[in-house]
Amino acid sequence: MAIDVRSLTDTWMIGNVEIPSRIVLAPMAGVSVQAFRRQGRRHGAGLVCSEMVSACGLGYGDARTKSYLRIAPDEKPLAVQIFGADPQLMADAARMCVDAGADIIDINMGCPVRKVTKTGAGATMLSDGAENAARVVEAVVNAVPVPVTVKMRRGEQNESRDFAIAGPLFASVGAQALTLHPRSAKQMYTGHADHSLTAELVSLVDVPVMASGDITSRERAHAILETTGCAAVMIGRGAQGNPWLLESMIRDEDVQPDNDEVVAELVRFIRETVRELGDQRATHFLRKFHGWYLKRGHFPRSLRQELSTLGTSAEVEEALFAAAPSARARVAAMEAELAALGSGDDDTELDLPISLYGGG
Ligand SMILES: Cc1cc2nc3c(=O)[nH]c(=O)nc-3n(C[C@H](O)[C@H](O)[C@H](O)COP(=O)(O)O)c2cc1C
Repeated sequence: MAIDVRSLTDTWMIGNVEIPSRIVLAPMAGVSVQAFRRQGRRHGAGLVCSEMVSACGLGYGDARTKSYLRIAPDEKPLAVQIFGADPQLMADAARMCVDAGADIIDINMGCPVRKVTKTGAGATMLSDGAENAARVVEAVVNAVPVPVTVKMRRGEQNESRDFAIAGPLFASVGAQALTLHPRSAKQMYTGHADHSLTAELVSLVDVPVMASGDITSRERAHAILETTGCAAVMIGRGAQGNPWLLESMIRDEDVQPDNDEVVAELVRFIRETVRELGDQRATHFLRKFHGWYLKRGHFPRSLRQELSTLGTSAEVEEALFAAAPSARARVAAMEAELAALGSGDDDTELDLPISLYGGG
């Protein structure tokens, strides 16, 4: 019998969409802005995903949570993730996302956050035989010409095996790939992701399965790919402020950035995020990223504190350049690329409420 030897650098397919590597950047609410997705693609992710977008809020954007989902050509292939429990609203939302440029529609059935589950969406959709969930998947599949995928947890309760019923059901109504984060919703992010369940799901369905949860090194990525038979590994928290993790997986060697590289990458991230969110919102939004980036390289502890007191992105840049002066030249070299991104006026904007506190 031929052995299927898979490599992280393989091309693979979700329906008719070609994915250029087996590394997928996880959707993360409050993190997966366009700059994050673009960065992921530049460093080797074959597929990136938006954070979850509320289908329900479509008609009546709540000013407090309202944001814009921007889609630009250079982040493709891009999956846009939507959540909601109403088949018709989900079908309408999916159509809008496809009109805006989504290559894949992903449905969130993993979010454990009460604000989402109390509406019947997120991880609760796997309960009770996942019957309504299957109706949602079917409605979305029938509404759009692009592949539809589902991202789920093992179920709501600890030891739940809902994924084993829901996964094959979703595939039978047309889902073209599944992602499993094998923790219960109740666990949130405690304990470990049990990837023996990922292997089980792989054996139960004919569509590709993506493995999500605790994949924080290239050794782990290889091990999960080999032992579960999954089509791809999905990287979430490990890629926060650390695009070099994706690169190490692609190059199959350790990649340790020096201070200049860290600062140059962070400054680029800052500039792109300011362009996306505006200076005021971006400055607040970016604070958590500073700490994540400054874990790489060798920076004094005081730098992170200093950055948290600064009120504009220009001040943050100056403080970063003071800590790594040669990074200026690197950023200057990136300028042409940054300029080519322009003002973002060519991006498609989806005027949708997006969740800032979600999860999955
Ligand atoms: C801050 C944060 C936000 C998240 N938001 C989403 C989301 O919007 N949609 C989703 O399907 N999963 C979301 N997740 C779950 C991740 O996609 C991923 O499945 C989970 O973090 C496990 O992978 P990891 O161990 O590589 O982080 C989120 C996780 C985190 C940490």
